[in-house]
Amino acid sequence: MPEPTIPLPLLANHSPGRARLTCTYRCGDACFHAPPNTSGNDYLGDVIANVVSRRSVFKAGAVLGLVAGAGLATATPSMATPSSAPGHDRPPKGLDFTPVERNSLDAVVVPDGYQQDIVIRWGDPLFPGTPAFDFDHQTAALQAKQFGYNCDFAALLPLDHQGLSNLLVTNHEYTSEQLMFRGYDRLNPTAEQVAIAWAAHGLTVVMVERPRSSGKLTPRFSRYNRRITLHTPFEVRGPAAGSDLLKTSVDPTGKRVLGTMNNCAGGVTPWGTILSGEENFNQYFANAGQIADPVTQARLARYGVLGGATERKWERFDKRYDLLQEPNEANRFGWIIELDPNDPDSTPVKHTALGRFKHECANIRVADDGRIVAYSGDDERFEYIYKFISTGKIRKGDSKAARRHNMTLLDDGTLYVGKFTGDSPVAEIDGSGKLPSDGRFDGSGEWIPLAAGKRSFVPGMTAEEVYVFTRLAADKAGATKMDRPEDIQAHPYTGTIYCALSNNVDRGKEGKEGATEMNPRVANKHGQILELTERRSDALALTFSWNLMLVCGDPNAPDTYFAGFPKDKVSPISSPDNVAFDPHGNLWISTDSAGALGGLNDGLYGVPVSGPQRGHLKQFLTVPRGGETCGPVIGERVITICVQHPGEIDGATADNPASHWPDGGTSQPRPSVVAVWKKGRHQPDPIGT
Ligand code: FEO
Ligand code: CA
Ligand code: CA
Repeated sequence: MPEPTIPLPLLANHSPGRARLTCTYRCGDACFHAPPNTSGNDYLGDVIANVVSRRSVFKAGAVLGLVAGAGLATATPSMATPSSAPGHDRPPKGLDFTPVERNSLDAVVVPDGYQQDIVIRWGDPLFPGTPAFDFDHQTAALQAKQFGYNCDFAALLPLDHQGLSNLLVTNHEYTSEQLMFRGYDRLNPTAEQVAIAWAAHGLTVVMVERPRSSGKLTPRFSRYNRRITLHTPFEVRGPAAGSDLLKTSVDPTGKRVLGTMNNCAGGVTPWGTILSGEENFNQYFANAGQIADPVTQARLARYGVLGGATERKWERFDKRYDLLQEPNEANRFGWIIELDPNDPDSTPVKHTALGRFKHECANIRVADDGRIVAYSGDDERFEYIYKFISTGKIRKGDSKAARRHNMTLLDDGTLYVGKFTGDSPVAEIDGSGKLPSDGRFDGSGEWIPLAAGKRSFVPGMTAEEVYVFTRLAADKAGATKMDRPEDIQAHPYTGTIYCALSNNVDRGKEGKEGATEMNPRVANKHGQILELTERRSDALALTFSWNLMLVCGDPNAPDTYFAGFPKDKVSPISSPDNVAFDPHGNLWISTDSAGALGGLNDGLYGVPVSGPQRGHLKQFLTVPRGGETCGPVIGERVITICVQHPGEIDGATADNPASHWPDGGTSQPRPSVVAVWKKGRHQPDPIGT
């Protein structure tokens, strides 16, 4: 008989529409704790005063041309690009589908005329000789050779010019032990269960092939196939590499870390590597509450590292998860990592120059002069948006030497944090979401420098401290508190930046910051899409204008806004998480916690950002019960998504599964990548995927 599962305590106040089970395993119950940002930084006063896939193309040189061109573009969001000016009635190219209805089905639901198939599931073997997945006989050794758990970010990197052969790279954000193991005892996990979880985190690289006639993607054994886990060696690079703050008893150099964790979203660089954000790392480290040194404890608390034992109890099996024994180990996570999937023997990198916080992602834009700019959001309530400008310039071409050079660009540069100001009178931002009299939530902003190389711009903090405790530096710099900055990415043709601000139910609560023009709703359950245009569309600019393109929720509710498009024609949306662009320049958005809109499933949406149909948001698909839509890659021939945590519903366990997707019958739910394509399209693919 299996031990009875210890149920998770049920509490109110967590992320709207998300299962408590997801909160526990994904974020370490972040929403049940006070937001770690208790700073009363300058920004608050200012606000009151003012009132307030890409896709990799096979040839890196081709990508450079495309993105650098974006820096020259002067199009504003209201100007139509040629590819998206179809007139008022005809759908823009790439968005010619009938929206799906919201539902609670245990299935991926796609529009009429589209077809779908599973690409790869949790546990599928990646190497020859690895046996087929067997839920009841899983081992850590096997998991290290299989597709990991809870796929989040995904990228498709073409290996040929036809897009028939690709590398699929995915993050595996976290493990859901109650769904992975029958009879799981939360208070006493076994050593093997913990080791399986270590191996189920990280990333996967796997080759996938597609026939000319469809979008079906089939995994292949190849020399590129690779698993990154919590035991894969990483090289720490950039200005904080070797810092005393990063040294441990196992690594006295402070330059070599084993593994990566809680990898959420990511990005594809113009040189064909993968960036991936280490997000809710705080939940894996135990005994912060017993740290005596008040400075260390305050630093940990600012990152939400709190309390005693962790949910997963890893500290019982490896002392590095016990802060009393290894006080610096937590400082070695919370970075942007870079992986070169083209070289299966390469050592992945942790880039300290991009700062340490709960990185959702990082995405690159190339400036006209060849310097590169990385944008990244810190996904927690009341956290900040960051920008990094490199010192070095990109080298064209897709040679190994060019890629080696370009992989150094994120080692040296200047890290900035965003400060936003609204342009409407404060009295007009009443927290209800009602548009101010100028008709837009909009304004201006600036990028405040935090550090450049070994030089700190933050009084009282060394450069190393700025990089390792970036949240504290940004507090001092007066950064703007946002409603959970998630994915952020530059439009491939205009260079305009789009950021998903997921939600923030704490905004306006007693003792917390109230509504601002950037975050105009108190108790914000549904989030918004921020559009940011750098001055003169110059990637290197240090000032910008911004507006909220979408204020999400039920279109029938008065607090929603869809770029002024008639609201009776748009799909409801809540909690935007990932953003992506299709080859025509349309914005695609995937959601996490759509349950906030009536308990229905999450999904994927497409919306034009320019032309007469700007704001015409349409839902393209829904994911199975309890799942989240992640990692959208929107190609000309095939769209892929990751279905993360299917069946993660309160009360669900492996002994009582709430989903049987994707295998049906009485099977266990398995996080998987799904490909969707239009039936009957046989023309050659000019793009690649
Ligand atoms: Fe892992 Fe920010 O979602
Ligand atoms: Ca305004
Ligand atoms: Ca995410």
